[in-house]
Amino acid sequence: MRRRGIFVTGTDTNVGKTVVSAALFHRYRRQASLCYWKPVQTGIEQDDDTATVRALGACAEREIFDRGVRLPRPVSPHLAARWAGERIAIAALRALWEEAPSDVGWIVEGAGGVLVPLNETELMVDLMRALQLPILIVARSTLGTINHTLLTVEAVRRRSLHVAGVVMVGPPDRENRRAIEAYGDVAVLGEMPVFEPLTVEALRAWAEEALDPHGRLREFWA
Ligand SMILES: Nc1ncnc2c1ncn2[C@@H]1O[C@H](COP(=O)(O)OP(=O)(O)O)[C@@H](O)[C@H]1O
Ligand SMILES: [Mg+2]
Repeated sequence: MRRRGIFVTGTDTNVGKTVVSAALFHRYRRQASLCYWKPVQTGIEQDDDTATVRALGACAEREIFDRGVRLPRPVSPHLAARWAGERIAIAALRALWEEAPSDVGWIVEGAGGVLVPLNETELMVDLMRALQLPILIVARSTLGTINHTLLTVEAVRRRSLHVAGVVMVGPPDRENRRAIEAYGDVAVLGEMPVFEPLTVEALRAWAEEALDPHGRLREFWA
């Protein structure tokens, strides 16, 4: 069965995928039952995106699906798995997801970007294809982002996946936004500023006002 939701990817690691995932709860949880899933987490001792989303998204237990591959070393998934004597298998992740509730809108967060290897033959984009979700791309707002974002859009579309939109993170840059929208033929659904400090309240206030103001993601939860 095809499930509802989106897959949150990024142009890079550390661009803001986890913070955007948390922001989506503040924007949409009154309109839909949402659930977050991080299928592959590397460097679990330093980075626990599930815990971060739970805190920043002020999530209830039912809003988090805390299963999947959890690896200690903070390196690419294919390598983290090899070093742990394991092998990540998309089929196994998909089977795990099938056990999760089906009546929710999913926010699935990848690791790194689209062409990150999971094992010797499969990439993160193959997991996106297996889950059949539209893709939300998180990108930096600053110089270099046009190239990285257009490359990501191209890689996603080449695999017949739908790009639901882009969220830019960092100091707003109107020209970069315009270029991504024009050359990528894609909607920028929000420009998330750098919060100092990053708090639940600051994230909620921004998400309610400025994340996907036209409600373009609504169709993916319905
Ligand atoms: N809008 C923001 N304001 C302040 N800090 C942010 C913001 N977005 C991300 N960060 C910080 O930047 C780092 C990377 O963000 P994260 O969402 O974890 O990236 P990713 O999931 O893409 O690896 C984290 O330390 C996070 O707290
Ligand atoms: Mg993350």
